Amino acid sequence: MPLLLDARDPSAIGQAAQRLAEGSLVGLPTETVYGLGADADNASAVRAIFAAKGRPADHPLIVHLAPGDTPGGWRSAVDHYARDIPAFALRLMEAFWPGPLTLILPRRPDVAAVAAGGQDSVGLRCPSHPVAQALLREAGQRGVRGVAAPSANRFGRVSPTTAAHVADEFAALGDDALLILDGGACPVGIESTIVDASRGHPVLMRPGMITPEQSQAACGQPVRPRDEAAPRASGTLASHYAPTAKVRLMDGKMLQTALDVLGKDARHIAVYARTRLRAGPGVKLQTMPADAAACAHELFAVLRELDATGVRLIWVETPPPLTEWDGVRDRLSRAAA
Ligand code: TXA
Ligand code: MG
Repeated sequence: MPLLLDARDPSAIGQAAQRLAEGSLVGLPTETVYGLGADADNASAVRAIFAAKGRPADHPLIVHLAPGDTPGGWRSAVDHYARDIPAFALRLMEAFWPGPLTLILPRRPDVAAVAAGGQDSVGLRCPSHPVAQALLREAGQRGVRGVAAPSANRFGRVSPTTAAHVADEFAALGDDALLILDGGACPVGIESTIVDASRGHPVLMRPGMITPEQSQAACGQPVRPRDEAAPRASGTLASHYAPTAKVRLMDGKMLQTALDVLGKDARHIAVYARTRLRAGPGVKLQTMPADAAACAHELFAVLRELDATGVRLIWVETPPPLTEWDGVRDRLSRAAA
């Protein structure tokens, strides 16, 4: 079993920072989801992330940077990893860092090649979670400039939003191979918004809780939707974030009709909906929050919990057609693909 430490334990952050400096893996809480971290400039440590996740080596990882007010913080670290940074990208960093926004930037060719999955770009983000910040600061004092960290789940599975989820995903790793910092449930709950800033204009690669309107207002130019020329991103594969049960999206009316048709025969079905529904005793009904942020916060934990009850089907009510729901809608459509 991995070593699980409460991040409030006075020695926990130091132990985790030391492990990063020694080239070992650390599970860390961020405001979005838990990450599986390693020193981004240590190729063999980064390879251990790909191996633990079962992730193909050409799927790039996000590099996490310390807060801007520390020596070695993002204001200097960005220049270590990236070059030719466009003005609109700087405006996005100033507006949203620390916070749930990742920027794809042209990479300095001599750094973080393994973390970048061989791309000539690099994904950078400065997280706002206090435990992530404390860890990045302490690791920085030990010479770690950035922590490469994908979501701490095995490839293709639902992202973890608690330390227990991470321990479940990597139960096969020993306490010497993985230390997990428990910082409680992640407040945002879905992964960061990704904006590609490597092609001269901002392109939305992955929707999240920062909407295109907010990015646009902050950087002063339109944020374009993804197109075919976009670099590959594993979080953008059609089928991702998949629980074992089959996920299906339906509007409230269709859900009620489907439940009525099955009647008392409905079994092995869980429903996650905002609309109040009538269902037989064999159906597990779970209320979806009417607020997008509240739904994002609980989404992955709910999918894991419903999956763990052994249901074969998870029927989910389609999110409202508003941009604040884009991140949740995106993750649900991928879970259903
Ligand atoms: O909120 C988050 O972003 C979380 C936390 C831990 O920070 N991380 C996360 O990492 O979601 P991951 O690896 O599960 O998803 C990162 C996404 C992937 O889709 C990856 O392909 C894309 O970012 N990405 C990273 N670097 C890239 C690059 N240089 N070019 C294109 N896509 C990149
Ligand atoms: Mg992921």
